[in-house]
Amino acid sequence: MKTVNSINFANKRAIIRVDFNVPLNDAFEVTDLTRIKAAIPTLKKILKDGGSIVLMSHLGRPKEGPTNKYSLKHIVNAVSQQLGTEVLFAEDCISESAFSASSNLKPGQVLLLENLRFYKEEEKGDRDFAKKLSQHGNVYVNDAFGTAHRSHASTAVIADFYTPDNRCFGFVMAGEVESINKVLNQAQKPFTAIIGGAKVSDKILIIEQLMEKANNIIIGGGMAFTFVKALGGSIGKSLCEDDRLETAKMLLDKAKQKGVNLYLPTDAVIADNFSNDANHKQSDINKIDEGWMGLDIGKDSANSFGNVIKNSKTILWNGPMGVFEMSHFEHGTKQAAFDIAEATKNGAFTLIGGGDSVAAINKYNLADQVSYVSTGGGALLEYIEQGSLPGVRAVEA
Ligand code: 3PG
Ligand code: MG
Repeated sequence: MKTVNSINFANKRAIIRVDFNVPLNDAFEVTDLTRIKAAIPTLKKILKDGGSIVLMSHLGRPKEGPTNKYSLKHIVNAVSQQLGTEVLFAEDCISESAFSASSNLKPGQVLLLENLRFYKEEEKGDRDFAKKLSQHGNVYVNDAFGTAHRSHASTAVIADFYTPDNRCFGFVMAGEVESINKVLNQAQKPFTAIIGGAKVSDKILIIEQLMEKANNIIIGGGMAFTFVKALGGSIGKSLCEDDRLETAKMLLDKAKQKGVNLYLPTDAVIADNFSNDANHKQSDINKIDEGWMGLDIGKDSANSFGNVIKNSKTILWNGPMGVFEMSHFEHGTKQAAFDIAEATKNGAFTLIGGGDSVAAINKYNLADQVSYVSTGGGALLEYIEQGSLPGVRAVEA
């Protein structure tokens, strides 16, 4: 991949698409800096060369134009602190004053534009809007891996307004793509994929793709109950997609045909309510009491999954094993996180991707004990499913 390393930015103005779609609390403070921190090396390289920077991003999914809640002004201080440089802010991404701010930037200066999605043209991939954005800089850098599965004006269409010499990827993009390729195309065996989360429907394609590559697929989280029910188990009022029972059976059959070990949990922590205060107990996953629901994998499952994990040389983790935000139902996710860290220490390459599994790794302070923590959720899944992303193709074209 052609990165910012191949361009000297002295006296150039880079317009960089970053993914600063970060979580904010009620006081509009950034509660997870991962995506901002990730972008810093790209920005530093450009500033060190003597270039200036215009940053553009979306925040959330505003539907009604400018909305205070979704303003990127809330993150200016966080970006400035992480970068160690003042960050200027333009209150509208394509206003006259925004263009005057960008054209007045001196080497070493940084400007952040207001939320691109305050214009509906962004998500529509509008060409005129993309062209306007391109007037902010003479080099286009795409470092927004988390949004690279969107064909939006700033993530894909804008690349057309630059010659191949004047467009490239940042280090986030390069690192993400390199680590996915390590997992998908250069995996040392055994390769284990751990897939969790609520819905089978979200993960069908990725499970099918992974069957072509992985030796083991571990299924946990809410989606496991659809598989258990498909096999005839009683799951009480656990989460279940009744319209996906056939899909679950198809995936189980396909795994058998391909010789992939597909591991389902055998026990669960069940509760009489979706609450940390609910009554809860361990149960056979096939015999969940009427009126109760599974909110975590059980101890036996966590241990047997752990044996598979600790014997793997390549691991991809997407999606938690249970409702780890609640202390009574965090054990399965927590143990998986620690087992993945142990496998990493023993030489495995481990990639963690998808909002909730990343939140889990951070909750247990293990981010620096795994090989790579992805900044993408949907983007990572789509890359694995399709083998490429619109935001990557646009720059490489
Ligand atoms: C994300 O957090 O998923 C990315 O920033 C993309 O956002 P989107 O799903 O609203 O396009
Ligand atoms: Mg998303």
